[in-house]
Amino acid sequence: MAMKTINIRTEVPGPKSRALLARRVAAIPRGPQLVTPIFAAKSEGAWIEDVDGNRYLDFAGGIGCLNAGHRHPLVTKAIHDQVDKFLHLCFGVTPYESYIALAEKLNSLAPISGPKKTMFINSGAEAVENAIKIARAYTKRPAVIAFEDAFHGRTLLTMSLTSKIVPYKACFAPFAPEVYRVPYAYCYRCSYSKTYPSCETYCARHLEDTFRRVVAPDSVAAIIAEPVLGEGGFVAPPKEFFSILREICNKHGIVLIADEVQSGIGRTGKYFAIEHYGVEPDLITTAKSLGGGLPIAGVTGRAEIMDAALPGGLGSTFAGNPTACAAALATLEAIEKDGLLARSTAIGKRFEDRVKGWQKKWSLIGDVRALGGMCAFELVTNRETREPAGAETKELAHFAYEHGLITITAGTLGNVMRILVPLVVTDEQFDEAMDVLEAGLTQIVEKKQQPIASHA
Ligand SMILES: Cc1ncc(COP(=O)(O)O)c(C=O)c1O
Repeated sequence: MAMKTINIRTEVPGPKSRALLARRVAAIPRGPQLVTPIFAAKSEGAWIEDVDGNRYLDFAGGIGCLNAGHRHPLVTKAIHDQVDKFLHLCFGVTPYESYIALAEKLNSLAPISGPKKTMFINSGAEAVENAIKIARAYTKRPAVIAFEDAFHGRTLLTMSLTSKIVPYKACFAPFAPEVYRVPYAYCYRCSYSKTYPSCETYCARHLEDTFRRVVAPDSVAAIIAEPVLGEGGFVAPPKEFFSILREICNKHGIVLIADEVQSGIGRTGKYFAIEHYGVEPDLITTAKSLGGGLPIAGVTGRAEIMDAALPGGLGSTFAGNPTACAAALATLEAIEKDGLLARSTAIGKRFEDRVKGWQKKWSLIGDVRALGGMCAFELVTNRETREPAGAETKELAHFAYEHGLITITAGTLGNVMRILVPLVVTDEQFDEAMDVLEAGLTQIVEKKQQPIASHA
């Protein structure tokens, strides 16, 4: 029998975590998210140990930043090697090779034909900001089309591109201008109340109507879309969706941006999720898992478009930091050497097999979605009306962490359990984590079925 990874030795949060939590509350504003009130001491592969010695399986991966696992040996070695050489120079002032090598690597991996170029920044939001700047410089047009349920970041422009109001936009107005929003192909909750495939992907085709009623196509610089909605609930649109977007962009000279910040770097079983649709975007944004745990982000795209901005118009002081570049090169090597694309596909299959079984016995599981290791299930209180089970989803996440599994939820309606497990997770660890979710769901379902206590 394989050794269990989960080991909860104290009540959670334990005493040391509780003390740190009190300090956190006193010293840090409430704005930065707090999902799990335990404090980390160390991590490796797919597990995290907290300051009280409790060991958890990690289904969140630092929100999708650890596709290659916590402290992959290749990544930590590359970091150690780099810190002995130099830490910061600013690529714009005194360049170094690793930035170029990483750009060459991403250019070779990006599913875009012809010459490509890549630039680096520090975060996913910065990648999106820069992609929009580049598209505007290239097209000399102002407008951007973004989708319902999209998440693109928390800076002014990326928050404006983001769809969900609470907590991302509430009380932060005014927003950046020239952002227009249209429905995504979220078939389980179609904004047009249509059904796929009889809808003939109406949501994508409807853009031509948007061009007549809302914004002229020759004002539109870019259409930005996540190949799989991340924060919006791990929704992969039907295959035709992106080919129609591509056709529309070609027809009107619009730049198609695939925001792969969450779906990229092997998460879905391919380097980039857009590859599943057989469509070439013009620009691709990356971040999160690219740095294997260090902050780095990129914009990769057609050379002609990437060169549109003037020298000095792009970048930032720390962009493409040498240690982060070294970590990113090692991460891409780790994905290749460890066969993590195939592993991602296998994880998705293992997830679907298990959760589809739950769906058969519990009406609480409304929809099961998996594109490789980008997997999720949506909880509903009523399968017919698809009433979102937000409270139950929260309860499940809470049960999970109390029983040694770190999870994060998703979805505009807060009713999606998403899995961003490091792809180095073993089958035994994965099953152990799924056992926790199953126990949590059993408890929630059984509680609901209990008769109301009679007054004796
Ligand atoms: C698709 C997508 N784009 C952009 C971002 C913003 O990235 P960051 O948090 O690194 O700024 C995220 C973050 O979750 C994301 O999922």
